Amino acid sequence: MGKKKITVGIIGFGTVGTGTAKILLGNRNILSERTGFDIVLKKVADRDLQRDRGITLPKGVLTPDAKDVVNDPDIHIVVELVGGIHPAKDFILEAVRKKKHVVTANKALLATEGNEIFSEAQKHGVEIGFEASVAGGIPIIKVIREGLVANNMVAIYGIINGTSNYILTKMTEEKVEFSDALKDAQRLGYAEADPTFDIEGIDSAHKLTILSSLAYGIPLSLDRVYKEGITKITSQDIEFASELGYKVKLLAITKATPPIPPLARGGERGVEIEMRVHPTMIPSEYLISKVDGVFNAVYVEGDAVGSTLYYGRGAGDMPTGSAVVADIVDIGRNIVSGGVRRVPWISGGAGTRKIREMEEIESMYYFRFSALDKPGVLSNISGILGNYNISIASVIQKGRRIGGSVPLVVLTHRAKERDVLNAIGEIDNLPVVSDKTLFVRVEGKEE
Ligand code: NDP
Ligand code: HSE
Repeated sequence: MGKKKITVGIIGFGTVGTGTAKILLGNRNILSERTGFDIVLKKVADRDLQRDRGITLPKGVLTPDAKDVVNDPDIHIVVELVGGIHPAKDFILEAVRKKKHVVTANKALLATEGNEIFSEAQKHGVEIGFEASVAGGIPIIKVIREGLVANNMVAIYGIINGTSNYILTKMTEEKVEFSDALKDAQRLGYAEADPTFDIEGIDSAHKLTILSSLAYGIPLSLDRVYKEGITKITSQDIEFASELGYKVKLLAITKATPPIPPLARGGERGVEIEMRVHPTMIPSEYLISKVDGVFNAVYVEGDAVGSTLYYGRGAGDMPTGSAVVADIVDIGRNIVSGGVRRVPWISGGAGTRKIREMEEIESMYYFRFSALDKPGVLSNISGILGNYNISIASVIQKGRRIGGSVPLVVLTHRAKERDVLNAIGEIDNLPVVSDKTLFVRVEGKEE
């Protein structure tokens, strides 16, 4: 008797679609050996059939019409890799209603429409695989849903946008201008179709929405994630950060504040979930601050396991294709063993957990004031900070421009975000301050 066949159709033959097809065809034998079934790539749909993808598909596989994939009765798993909301959502829902399993890398879609998509999949008894939607080739979804299932999550800190990390690394190490570094990331296939998603923290927010929902059992709540991108960070800030012993990274953070007590059975009154994406200064000696280029890293702390860290390429055809194929294999195994929906999507069980307002968070801060170079300015500024209970940890002022303005850099101890916003509002109105103050949140141990 021949091996069982699991039949797959891909919609979207772009960066990730091409990587996925290359792995399915190139590693067919090893996949078959490891799983005991054959994965057959039956159809690949893309609206452009002329473009050279660097791979030749068997005859009859390529089609211009996504419906050829969704409507094919032989196809068990539809792989959605077109991106965006529509028609991607329509393809997925149509496939689910035809009782086909779905694999997608589309974090934008899951973060915005995932509650509906997962509930429809549950209704029709099929699976949605989404490993590739967060952190490219790093199997972080499996880590949280399966490997660390025993834990109350304390916190997750992630560098989960390869494009931003690539840009910040180029600005730090090669002093490359922001726009040139972004062009490189686009050329390498890392950036989203609309790269503002990458640089404004939106893509990280999509991914964080998924991670928070898995970690804390809350519904997918993109609109509650605080988002701030890297566009205001200058090479000068990167240099000041370095002088103070920090690296600047775009971090996605979710944590329970205060931490959920171990073995809590309803005993977690007052716990709120933080969800925020923003540039962050991290001590240079921390492992995560050494994660450069397109690499991603996700630090996950659980109450039983303690600290764990996952590292790998967060974007690109082959790393992302690796995660897509892992989902295909998982679903294939479940089909073959009769264990479909072995790991169902569970969210909303803890729907009562509150999400913390951004103004309520506490952090240390880096401020870069544009202050006139004259006596008394520092005491004006520190007076206002003091009025809001913000205490200064260190100060740097470089250069002299008597009568002109110079950057005045202040690092603070832990303070409340609301106090920081109020203090900055007052400071920016001082006649001795010539431009808007830039502030960056700082993680790490308080000095
Ligand atoms: P690409 O733009 O490279 O590929 C998408 C492909 O789908 C294009 O060839 C596009 O054609 C085609 N397409 C668009 N609409 C249709 C349609 N209606 N029918 C058939 N084909 C269509 O995107 P990526 O491969 O980079 O991204 C795919 C998904 O993976 C996105 O959700 C993205 O967020 C996600 N992702 C991407 C990663 C990466 O590193 N690139 C990493 C992780 C996730 P055309 O070019 O003509 O528009
Ligand atoms: N544009 C995304 C990034 C692709 O740069 O991380 C991977 O999700």
